[in-house]
Amino acid sequence: MKKNLLLTSFVFLTLFANAQKYKGLAMTPPMGWNSWNTFQTNISEDLVKQTADLMVAAGMKAAGYSYIVLDDGWMAMERDSITGDLVPDPKKFPHGMRAVVDYVHSKGLKFGLYNCAGTKTCAGYPGTRGYEYQDARLYASLGIDYLKFDWCSSDGLNAKESYTTMSNALKMAKRPIIFSLCEWGNNKPWAWAKEVGQLWRTTGDIANIFDGIKTFDTWHANGVMTIVDMQDSLRKYSGPDHWNDPDMLEVGNGMSVAEDRTHFSMWCMLAAPLMMGNDIRKMTNDTKAILTDKDVIAVDQDVAGVQAFKYTDKDSVQTWLKPLQNGDWAVCFLNRSSTPKSIQHDWKKNTVYDSLSAKEFNAVKNIYKLKDLWTKKESGTTDKIFQATVPPHDVVLLKLSK
Ligand code: GLA
Repeated sequence: MKKNLLLTSFVFLTLFANAQKYKGLAMTPPMGWNSWNTFQTNISEDLVKQTADLMVAAGMKAAGYSYIVLDDGWMAMERDSITGDLVPDPKKFPHGMRAVVDYVHSKGLKFGLYNCAGTKTCAGYPGTRGYEYQDARLYASLGIDYLKFDWCSSDGLNAKESYTTMSNALKMAKRPIIFSLCEWGNNKPWAWAKEVGQLWRTTGDIANIFDGIKTFDTWHANGVMTIVDMQDSLRKYSGPDHWNDPDMLEVGNGMSVAEDRTHFSMWCMLAAPLMMGNDIRKMTNDTKAILTDKDVIAVDQDVAGVQAFKYTDKDSVQTWLKPLQNGDWAVCFLNRSSTPKSIQHDWKKNTVYDSLSAKEFNAVKNIYKLKDLWTKKESGTTDKIFQATVPPHDVVLLKLSK
């Protein structure tokens, strides 16, 4: 009897332990580069090497970007006929994947791959369904640090179970690998994925447009503002080591400089993972300046790990607030319209208490110094009413420090 009880407790504890992801891999939102938004399946060893070199040379690594993630299209169309292992496409990766991983690691960067919980990836390559433990062991043996796991060809599967199986498989493979769930928010991953992975997509794919929806043959993608609108209600689910992921960045992929600045500012306000999605070999100085702005990135990477909330929304101008460590706040005035907007904000009349983070903004009790994070201007204190003009599709992003 006693023996049975011991056995049952052992089995229970083992199962329970297995259901826990690796802890502490993403205490601030992960930052890196992913191949999909620009290259889709046109990827190669050369692209990875050039990107890795530039991430170091152009200051992206110094700014905090550490992962290079190959998305869909890195595999051959079939698994190895004898071992069942995934095989890298020999044309794209003539020296195999280990050589690519080693190169990226030699630059002091980390490396990630993509697969899918279903039987096929979204681009039709072999999926992981039925091969979870085998694939996890392969990834560990290749030395990868990050796995993005998609949700195509998943008919009849239970999302929570499928992603938990892969999370357990990664844990059993004994290598700390960030697990990025890409289930598009279909089954509310924010409600169950905290113990499964470090980040989860909250929406379908992003498009390189400021607002609205971009329609393709069989699917559609969301503009930046459309995604922003879906995030506010999810803030309570996000925090250190478990982030809402509103999808990868489109900065440098065709929007105006103001729109790119707004996109980047809002992703930082939302404590979103910052995965660059542009061709960094061809980026303009404006794109580089946006992506590497240390002050703005610091808003995203703030260790309090609190997602912003929408405080006001009037006449196409929204005010978003993000509590930061040490009682500081980030404030983003976002002009969604296509005309300039004048704003006036009386800090003293806008005391705020955020019950989620238990942080207070109180300009009656405290004086905060204002810094405009994009222009770098010190803009006085909260003793004065703040006035500014926000250009169309642009932001004024402030940090308020006590
Ligand atoms: C899905 C994902 C994208 C990308 C593609 C690859 O659409 O949401 O981010 O990974 O698949 O096929």
